[in-house]
Amino acid sequence: MAESITITDNRTGESIEVPIVDGGVDAAAWRKLMPGTWFYDPALMTTAATSSSVTELDGENGVLRYRGYPIEQLAEHSSYLEVAYLLIHGELPTQEQYEPWVHDITYHTFIHENVRKRFLEGFHHDAHPMGMLVSAIAALSTFYPDAGEIHDPENRLKQIVRLIAKMPTLAAACHRFSVGMPFVYPDNSLGFTSNFLSMLWKVAEPRYDANPALARALDVLFILHADHEQNCGTTAMRVVGSAHADPYVSTAAAAAALYGPRHGGANEAVIRMLKSIGSIEEVPAFIESVKAGKGRLQGFGHRVYKSYDPRAKIIKQTADEVFAITGKNPLLDIALKLEEVALSDEYFTSRKLYPNVDFYSGLIYQAMGFPVEMFTVLFAIPRTAGWLAHWVEALEQDQKIVRPRQLYVGHDARDYVGLDQRS
Ligand code: CMC
Repeated sequence: MAESITITDNRTGESIEVPIVDGGVDAAAWRKLMPGTWFYDPALMTTAATSSSVTELDGENGVLRYRGYPIEQLAEHSSYLEVAYLLIHGELPTQEQYEPWVHDITYHTFIHENVRKRFLEGFHHDAHPMGMLVSAIAALSTFYPDAGEIHDPENRLKQIVRLIAKMPTLAAACHRFSVGMPFVYPDNSLGFTSNFLSMLWKVAEPRYDANPALARALDVLFILHADHEQNCGTTAMRVVGSAHADPYVSTAAAAAALYGPRHGGANEAVIRMLKSIGSIEEVPAFIESVKAGKGRLQGFGHRVYKSYDPRAKIIKQTADEVFAITGKNPLLDIALKLEEVALSDEYFTSRKLYPNVDFYSGLIYQAMGFPVEMFTVLFAIPRTAGWLAHWVEALEQDQKIVRPRQLYVGHDARDYVGLDQRS
């Protein structure tokens, strides 16, 4: 027998049977039974806002798969550009598909000179690179007026290639500006992450060759961050995209959501926290202060993962590989101690609070030489592939414009009172 639920309106005795499909019940049946009575679900904690075949996340069991492929296998064997292809197209590319994909992305890395010279250089000298990046992504919309042709799949793909390709260039430009260094043009002879590292760190040498192990570590981090189903940023992408806004401004909205410290900004918060703790000896006292409600243990806990975040496991291993080259980040010992103390403390275990992706990623970025302000920017680069995969999926689903209801709890109608009569 098919699984179902029965909803009864106790005011009228009317009831309706709704089938359970793919683990959800269709809210349209509820709307039919009780028009004008809304589900109250702030933060959408109980709502599946869409169906999706991009990423599967099983938070209870610590499972993360892109298009069915386990994150562990992708991190070990794949590359970010291959994963981006997988997310966008739904399948891993064949050799014949992969070569033109890499070529197209490599040859779309340049940005219009006005974006850099007139736009990015107009920011105040101490502008946060993430604020610059969000604005620059939105500004790209004005350079590609054809981006509005969102119903043409070929045109969509052109914008997708541009966005994936230009994110590292914009990110590096934001960094170079904030440290007062001249812009470095992309080098088409380099791979995706090597090119990014060249745009970041090149000084006077004719060609910057990144340490291949560091370029690979960054590529692994990009794979791990490429998608994470319906998180806050991706939801922003789908919501703005549902208004048929072009992919640049939709991506800017998603990046703006990611900027928040509860979301992609947490890795920055982790480093600040570790610095403020200062030494291993202070860890127990810090844990006690968290338990007493004086702030949170940054990089711990997740809305969906209720066991170890599978990305955190891989990142911990990547951290060892990076530290073997860069030398150990002095904050690592404090992080390891924090993890050890928290995982043996009932406060954290009973609430199923485990390290998330951000707990160790900041330590790696810092050891690689990135300033903390760049951490969320480093998250936004690969997440662009995931955002765009969801954007395409929503368009192909012909999703209606997102327009939730509210439960109005404000004043009843009242008459306007002139300024001179208000007490
Ligand atoms: N430190 C201490 N206590 C915590 C923490 C934490 N990091 N996270 C949750 N709790 C407690 C919280 O106080 C609450 O306790 P009680 O039931 O006694 O009131 C309980 O655990 C449930 O917390 P919640 O706030 O209801 O959980 P949530 O699902 O709304 O929040 C979260 C998820 C990620 C915002 C939260 O765990 C948090 O603030 N973590 C620190 C920030 C962080 O690391 N964010 C990165 C998330 S992963 C990157 C991404 O995917 O964007």
